[in-house]
Amino acid sequence: MKPQVIAVAGKGGTGKTTLAALIIQALRVPGPVLAVDADPNCNLGEALGLKVERTIGQLRDEVLEQISELPPGVPKDQLLELGLHQCLVEDQGLDLLSMGHGEGPRCYCMVNHVLRRVIDSLAGNYRYVVLDNEAGMEHLSRRTTQDVDVLLVVAEPTPVSLRAARRIKDIAEDLGIRVGKKFLVINRVRGELPQVEESGLPLLGTVPYDPQVEELSARGRPLAGLPPESPASRAVQGLLGKLSIGKEG
Ligand SMILES: Nc1ncnc2c1ncn2[C@@H]1O[C@H](COP(=O)(O)OP(=O)(O)O)[C@@H](O)[C@H]1O
Ligand SMILES: [Mg+2]
Repeated sequence: MKPQVIAVAGKGGTGKTTLAALIIQALRVPGPVLAVDADPNCNLGEALGLKVERTIGQLRDEVLEQISELPPGVPKDQLLELGLHQCLVEDQGLDLLSMGHGEGPRCYCMVNHVLRRVIDSLAGNYRYVVLDNEAGMEHLSRRTTQDVDVLLVVAEPTPVSLRAARRIKDIAEDLGIRVGKKFLVINRVRGELPQVEESGLPLLGTVPYDPQVEELSARGRPLAGLPPESPASRAVQGLLGKLSIGKEG
């Protein structure tokens, strides 16, 4: 199966994790969804109400330590593949993979290379892959075979945030990330929209400020507790509808 890959990017605090979590909630039926937390702060799990025991970063460090003790000839792919499955948090219609911290000073090239291949082949088991990225989109640039079908750049309804969105778009282009379609999503909208041309991106739609979202996050509760008819959930369903995602099959 070739999954549809949806990546959410944007400056810190714009609402990437919130948007990613709401997209995942909306897609877990039909599902299955692979949720990838590519932000080293790893809070997509929290937003989804899932507990992350082990990140890919931790796996990579462990495997590197083991490699020095293993007799030659033990296949690293198998070791990583096994470890990868231990990093997956499984839930109904949804598995979560958290990338954790980026590379340290040691050379991880070989392990990273194998890891990317293993993750890309894992992605084939899902109908959707949803990535919550860090602002720099490091992990996206290091993907191997998978293209991104839709890149959603999240911004707040201010000129400053829209300019930041343009920079994110430029970074994505500079990194050579292969993207099918790129859109701007304006989050936490309360009143009138500013001129969105500054972002250099076509506007897909907006997500309103939703007091229930803020309240859940203030209480440390997952967004799974947000009713599907709440303003933010409905807006996200509308965005997916415009993309014709979630209706197929
Ligand atoms: N539409 C919204 N309405 C109200 N609060 C929101 C909305 N979107 C995000 N928030 C809140 O804004 C804060 C930052 O959102 P978050 O998704 O963590 O941003 P990011 O992942 O980009 O850093 C969180 O406290 C979140 O609950
Ligand atoms: Mg986040």
